[in-house]
Amino acid sequence: AIKKIKAREVLDSRGNPTVEVEVTLESGAVGRATVPSGASTGEREALELRDHDPNRYLGKGVLKAVDNVNGLIAKELVGLEADNQWEIDRVLIELDGTPNKSRLGANAILGVSMAVAKAMAQEKGMPLYRYLGGSMANKLPVPLMNVINGGVHADNPLDIQEFMILPVRGTTFSEALRVGVEVFHTLKHILKERGLSTCVGDEGGFAPQIKSTEEALDLLLLAIEKAGYVPGQDVLLALDCASSEFYYEDELYHLEGRVMSREELCEFYSKLVERYPIVSLEDPMAEDDWEGWKLVTQALGNKVQLVGDDLFTTNVNILREGFKKGVANAILIKLNQIGTVSETLQTVAYAKDHHYSTIVSHRSGETEDTFIAHLAVATGSGQIKTGSASRTDRTAKYNELLRIEESLGCGAVFTGRGEFWRFLR
Ligand code: PGA
Ligand code: ZN
Repeated sequence: AIKKIKAREVLDSRGNPTVEVEVTLESGAVGRATVPSGASTGEREALELRDHDPNRYLGKGVLKAVDNVNGLIAKELVGLEADNQWEIDRVLIELDGTPNKSRLGANAILGVSMAVAKAMAQEKGMPLYRYLGGSMANKLPVPLMNVINGGVHADNPLDIQEFMILPVRGTTFSEALRVGVEVFHTLKHILKERGLSTCVGDEGGFAPQIKSTEEALDLLLLAIEKAGYVPGQDVLLALDCASSEFYYEDELYHLEGRVMSREELCEFYSKLVERYPIVSLEDPMAEDDWEGWKLVTQALGNKVQLVGDDLFTTNVNILREGFKKGVANAILIKLNQIGTVSETLQTVAYAKDHHYSTIVSHRSGETEDTFIAHLAVATGSGQIKTGSASRTDRTAKYNELLRIEESLGCGAVFTGRGEFWRFLR
């Protein structure tokens, strides 16, 4: 049973306050979890409660959320059994009572939900991936490494938010990761040679002063080749367009100095997919532009993975809508978009049942917490998006996956290119 719940305010990777929760069980087991925070957030995400007190942390304090954990939530949860995650999360959802967790704050609720799961894993003496995923959880994910940052994650002129390399060479996660890291270092050399900045953005990727999508993609191809690998074979490419950020009320997309209709934008993507070994496009159309999403799914749905992030916000009800309307073929999974561990697992289960790929993801504001590394293995998602090969907030997740792979020994599975078999010719 739960003996004690304690929350505090700590810092995320951008230096903004966030919620950390410690749950202690009667057995003495302790689980500690820290909540991440996004910048290009979807409108239908669960609410991140901030104090808006201009005298502290420029209004970004989270003391209200911390108080909600130490007060209301602790009062309700202390004494309850912790071994039924669904029951704990149901109590949290009902105590909040709003559709978007705006009374207690999704940051308060998620911190508790994650910490309870971690405490239970410790009590049972198993790693978190085993506790959440059961005895069959053994698949390591392909890393989607965001090596060039743009959009709201960097101060450069790139409109597309993320340029990712997907190392799929080899039969193990550790080998694939090594390939990705070598490409990252090679890219750094190329940027230096060209007099471009090697400063990094929020997710640890470079943020050079370049303007065009093609220029960024060409740099990636060059880096892959110079590192000694074959683009399209050893390393695949992916984009997170985060297009809600360049979609305006006039139903037009403002990209690279051009104004495009959804049809023109779709054509722009088609050409990129023809020209580059891109296997995944995230948020190619804005979250409000379901017409655009239908169009792009019809045009490209059998050629690339089309990932709904801001579109679905890890919400099973919105995903159900998407399935009915034939929109997208994959979903990004972010715990704090929905606010509990159980609802996150429910969304993954629905996605799998309906043949949507799942990609477990970090937020641009992260911490040293490695929960998502375990979640990726627990759900057998096959893909994880957790940034580049710099910034400890990003490499912490990769390092945890290395430890998990080691602990699985010869039972570990890595499918690499197989994750994308639908889209590889
Ligand atoms: P965010 O970005 O965490 O700032 O929302 C990540 C993403 O869009 O995938
Ligand atoms: Zn995204």
